[in-house]
Amino acid sequence: MIPLPLARIAEITSGALTGMADPRAVVRGPVVIDSRAVEPGSLFVAIKGARVDGHDYAAQAIRAGAVAVLATRPVEGPAVIVPDAAAALAELATAQAAALPGVTVIGVTGSAGKTSTKDLLARLTARVGPTIAPVGSFNNELGHPLTVLRADLDTRFMVLELAARNIGHIKDLTRIAPPQIGVVLNVGTAHLGVFGGKEAIAKAKGELVEALPRTGVAVLNADDPLVRAMASRTDARVTFFGRGESASIRAEGVTVDARGRASFTLRTPSGSAPVSLQLYGEHAVDNALAAAAAGYELGLPVATIAAELSQATPLSRWRMEVTDRADGVTVVNDAYNANPDSMRAAFAAFEVLGRGRRRFAVIAALRELGEEGPALNAELGRLAGGSGLAGLIVAGPDAGPVLEGARAAAAQAQAAAQAALDAQAAAHAAAGGPQAPVPHQDPPQGWHGPSPDQGWHGPAQDQGWHGPSPEQGVPPQGWQAPPAGGPVPGHPPVGGPPMGAAPYGGAPAGPHPGGPVAGAPPGGGAAYPAQAMRIVHVPDAEAAAAELAGWLRPGDAVLVKGPRAMGLERTAELVLGGAAQ
Ligand SMILES: Nc1ncnc2c1ncn2[C@@H]1O[C@H](COP(=O)(O)OP(=O)(O)OP(=O)(O)O)[C@@H](O)[C@H]1O
Ligand SMILES: [Mg+2]
Repeated sequence: MIPLPLARIAEITSGALTGMADPRAVVRGPVVIDSRAVEPGSLFVAIKGARVDGHDYAAQAIRAGAVAVLATRPVEGPAVIVPDAAAALAELATAQAAALPGVTVIGVTGSAGKTSTKDLLARLTARVGPTIAPVGSFNNELGHPLTVLRADLDTRFMVLELAARNIGHIKDLTRIAPPQIGVVLNVGTAHLGVFGGKEAIAKAKGELVEALPRTGVAVLNADDPLVRAMASRTDARVTFFGRGESASIRAEGVTVDARGRASFTLRTPSGSAPVSLQLYGEHAVDNALAAAAAGYELGLPVATIAAELSQATPLSRWRMEVTDRADGVTVVNDAYNANPDSMRAAFAAFEVLGRGRRRFAVIAALRELGEEGPALNAELGRLAGGSGLAGLIVAGPDAGPVLEGARAAAAQAQAAAQAALDAQAAAHAAAGGPQAPVPHQDPPQGWHGPSPDQGWHGPAQDQGWHGPSPEQGVPPQGWQAPPAGGPVPGHPPVGGPPMGAAPYGGAPAGPHPGGPVAGAPPGGGAAYPAQAMRIVHVPDAEAAAAELAGWLRPGDAVLVKGPRAMGLERTAELVLGGAAQ
């Protein structure tokens, strides 16, 4: 930051010095709200949160070297007292940004991909000059000014992430460090509940381009109609990025490798260059294009942009982090956060990455979706249930709609698969040939029923593993009960399937080579019933990991994704900590 004496800080914030604060004492930064991050020369801003009150840590901050505390009441030690610490923080950041006219400010907003895009773009601007970008997702009324305050006279670029939790939020953030370039990625359904509709979300996100000066540039996603329409809301010139011909910065010939990483030709008005992303998921193409478009407007050569994008690896944690265990189990940790759009993107990427392998997913009910929450969560369940997984774990509260959606889609998929198997068997029988091996999916080994705390209690309930319930999917025709001990379709045993037995409606879980097995239907039906997806509800991230541990075999793939509050990265970390069983 630009060094500021306490007297100047008091002036900017209309504050009063207390605690024998020396008006000449100089704050050199960093400005922090976490007392553990204090360094000699810091200003500690005491924020009163829901659980923790920063004022309680004032003395500790001073001991650690803070020059003073920005506080709303006197504390032990030198302080600048203001009526509202967050507002004072914003005032300080505003003054700081105004004192740095040589800095180009780039704002990035959108429902999904802000952090990923910000990381890519900061990589590009760093090629031109010293760049400040937020750590992780610092994008709100606290994180934003804290980031701006890190800039100093050497800084040439600030790449800022702007989040809106309501109308007016982005407008407020743009007042702190007025952007010259505004990037809008997409208008999705994140925080739908707070806004009450996609149009309102578009209105809020568009505040970024409304704040741009005539000399600025709005970088808009041509493929998102609500973003495209923002062109009429800005005085700045507009550059479109996207997949289609109408975008001046576009990706052509997008291909995705077996791990779900995209390659494409980056086309710009002044040339093109090949890009091979190391980031997972096709949605990374859109983020890369957004960063490329902003980089292009800053005058970076296309070859440099393409090279930097191709070298970028995920910088911020838990966003499509793909890790292979020694035993070949691949864990996709996308647990940073989730909304309906990023869930779809993650499942699409996972399908590619896990092709030909047994796939499992750990998800949780999405939040902050307002009235549409249950419907959107049921849709999430249908997405998961219809995506060909061998097993699904839904963790945490409010899982009902997700489970119902998943169960319905899984039953439907199973019925369709069964019909295909039956048709195949009938065709073979009609041709008079020997019974051909019927493709089947390996059921997970080591199935041992639900973990004790899940309360498995049959298909009619919302919790616990449950095969297709009678209403949702009749056990396949011709399928006989599995060998001794297996549950009888329609009459699952209380307490769940016994060790090693088939889940209700599913195939035997024991070893089952391609040949005929006990329990195979007589008289030319399919050799196997189509595999049922195992669906389990668990209370939390730890229980999800414990459940998964019993399911995974070498070579499997797991997707872990849920809303921030569920902390599902813990599941991924636990799964990565152990070897497959
Ligand atoms: N363009 C995109 N479209 C859909 N999903 C995306 C896109 N980019 C990233 N994602 C996914 O969305 C999630 C969040 O990504 P990221 O952190 O980059 O977004 P964000 O907008 O910063 O989110 P937040 O609002 O939580 O800060 C990740 O799971 C990521 O894989
Ligand atoms: Mg973010």
